[in-house]
Amino acid sequence: MIAVPETFVRSTVEREGERGAEWIAQLPDTVDELLDRWDCVPDGAVTHGGVGLIVPVLRRAAEATAVLKVSFPHPGNVHEPDAFAAWGGRGAVQLYERDDDRFAMLLERAGTRTLAEVEAGDEDVIVGVAARLSRRLAVPAPTGQTRLPQLRERTGAWEEELRTDASEVEHELPQRVLDAALATLRELGPDQPDVLVHGDLHARNILVADREPWLAVDPKGCVGDPAYDGGTLLKSRALALLEAPDLGRAVRRALDVFAEAAELDRERVSRWAQFHAVQAAFHGRRHGFRMARGGARLDWIIRFADELACLLTQPPQYRR
Ligand SMILES: Nc1ncnc2c1ncn2[C@@H]1O[C@H](COP(=O)(O)OP(=O)(O)O)[C@@H](O)[C@H]1O
Ligand SMILES: [Mg+2]
Repeated sequence: MIAVPETFVRSTVEREGERGAEWIAQLPDTVDELLDRWDCVPDGAVTHGGVGLIVPVLRRAAEATAVLKVSFPHPGNVHEPDAFAAWGGRGAVQLYERDDDRFAMLLERAGTRTLAEVEAGDEDVIVGVAARLSRRLAVPAPTGQTRLPQLRERTGAWEEELRTDASEVEHELPQRVLDAALATLRELGPDQPDVLVHGDLHARNILVADREPWLAVDPKGCVGDPAYDGGTLLKSRALALLEAPDLGRAVRRALDVFAEAAELDRERVSRWAQFHAVQAAFHGRRHGFRMARGGARLDWIIRFADELACLLTQPPQYRR
């Protein structure tokens, strides 16, 4: 029976309370049952992300490596196997088996190192790799029974949320910054292509591999504008960009590199990134961030999100 890492037990129980504790208590049995059903044996150290337990395994029949991922049952994880299935291994790890009731999948095993670790310090490479992968992942959305969440259907709720935040939460964002984010939702929101979007593209969800140099893991699986994922990626690079001597220049550079390598319209990427920054500025004020729930560090990150939102709004040197 596998041992669930203590860090995973703690974070799950802290986040999910009683339900989390119950789920964790069942987890070793769940893993055993799935290993049995899929004819696998554990093969290496168990690890985890924010919500998923990852058990490296050997598939006895195929004599090949794989990983078993079991996630806490959360609406955000429902469509992960659908996205993997639609990609069929293109730019992402392959899906071998799925058990949707248990939020479990048997996946192709990639390397243990992430893009964030391997290329740490080289922003151009990190952003370029992620962008090329985003291009590869931008396939037509699957049709048929699986209806993935549509980004275009969320924009109304995002707009409402932003308006509520702006009136209820004490903040220092200038009106023109809020207006730009609202304009993005109104202008880019309703008319989005039927393209599969990863939904949580960041450098820790991109793993070094052999079959392709890099493979994506951990997709949310949504349908919409691939430039939206450009915004997700740039937001995830924000703290790394902070190291740059000239923040404005570093952000412009990241946008250039991403838009070119992903073959996307730079303006769209920039506008979604601006929206993500505004959304993060309010999220931080309401809930804090995983890396800082309060205190001076949280204040500092919020100020930085504000700065980024302003920077991404600034014409004319920014919007070209
Ligand atoms: N297919 C895989 N092959 C190898 N390692 C993996 C694989 N999937 C996940 N991992 C490892 O587990 C970590 C967490 O996985 P992830 O799917 O991102 O979980 P979460 O949904 O909890 O973020 C990854 O950063 C990676 O180190
Ligand atoms: Mg992850």
